[in-house]
Amino acid sequence: MKTLTIRRPDDWHLHLRDGEVLSGVIEDTSRHFARAIIMPNLVPPVVTTADAAAYRERIMAAVPSGDRFQPLMTLYLTEGTDPQDVAAGKERGLITAVKLYPAGATTNSSSGVRNIDKAMPVLERMAEIGLPLCVHGEVTTAEVDIFDREAVFIETVLDPLRKRLPELKITMEHVTTKEGVDYIKNSSANLAGTITTHHLIINRNAILVGGIRPHYYCLPVAKREHHRLALRTAATSGDPRFFLGTDSAPHVDPLKECACGCAGIYTSPNTMSCLAHVFEEENALAQLEAFTSLSGPAWYGLPPNEERMTLVRRDEPLQFPKKRETGAGAITVFDPLFPLYWEVEA
Ligand code: NCD
Ligand code: ZN
Repeated sequence: MKTLTIRRPDDWHLHLRDGEVLSGVIEDTSRHFARAIIMPNLVPPVVTTADAAAYRERIMAAVPSGDRFQPLMTLYLTEGTDPQDVAAGKERGLITAVKLYPAGATTNSSSGVRNIDKAMPVLERMAEIGLPLCVHGEVTTAEVDIFDREAVFIETVLDPLRKRLPELKITMEHVTTKEGVDYIKNSSANLAGTITTHHLIINRNAILVGGIRPHYYCLPVAKREHHRLALRTAATSGDPRFFLGTDSAPHVDPLKECACGCAGIYTSPNTMSCLAHVFEEENALAQLEAFTSLSGPAWYGLPPNEERMTLVRRDEPLQFPKKRETGAGAITVFDPLFPLYWEVEA
């Protein structure tokens, strides 16, 4: 029997939603993960520290008793964000990062930033106090092909911002391209990237071949195979600038299975099994702990978790429920399209 013991992992990019969905999905994260960076794209978004404090309370109230889980809160950056409020949120230990969504980039991003100049006072303050900016790295202009949005964002938004404010710590979230990987690898400081579980497993064929498959549609959209391979190399390399952010993004099935389905893939229940599988395929099981449990805390200046998690490689494929039932409806769980053998020991 093969086993692997690592420090308990954290998820550096997670959507938990609110209300019935929150109470339905939270245990899929709190069962395995000690901490998670919680995305603020609720409707309306989490824009002030008062919003974040209230949301944190609702999350804590939904965590099953017995699970130790710490939500790390973020603020949704708008053109009206008050630098003083952000600084106060960091000061009291409530805010871990601020999230930049370009307006219209993804689910619930209509309040996002249209003109980055308007956000400069907040960004300058964040650089001063050492508060990281998490970016959804896609441009949204109609002329840019959806598969090129990330590469164009790096060139036209991220690189100029980093030159203008080199002291700002930036997490480029859910990197999906070779260009993204290379940009991070070639950066000298203050830049890291998260990688999702699903982008290590699917390329864009999963969405389109043999029929249109809404449960593989997310943003940033999965790219060509050579991008997936670049992500695999980065994730399994042990380079501390790449670490896990699942971007697990639950939507109830009717919102996915329709004429204009939402972006988002729900990977929380089987993420650790999927990752162990991927790292084993890459002969890199020894790097799994760095990716899931060490590099993220180091980047955010937090101690790694003391608790351990053991994964056991079973002889028979594991059975995961295909759906997570919630009070708001069923949510389809990510199917990696291959059998999973690595089980998290309870
Ligand atoms: C996210 C969501 O549903 O909130 N969707 C997604 O496809 N990842 C938004 C996001 O992070 O882009
Ligand atoms: Zn996300």
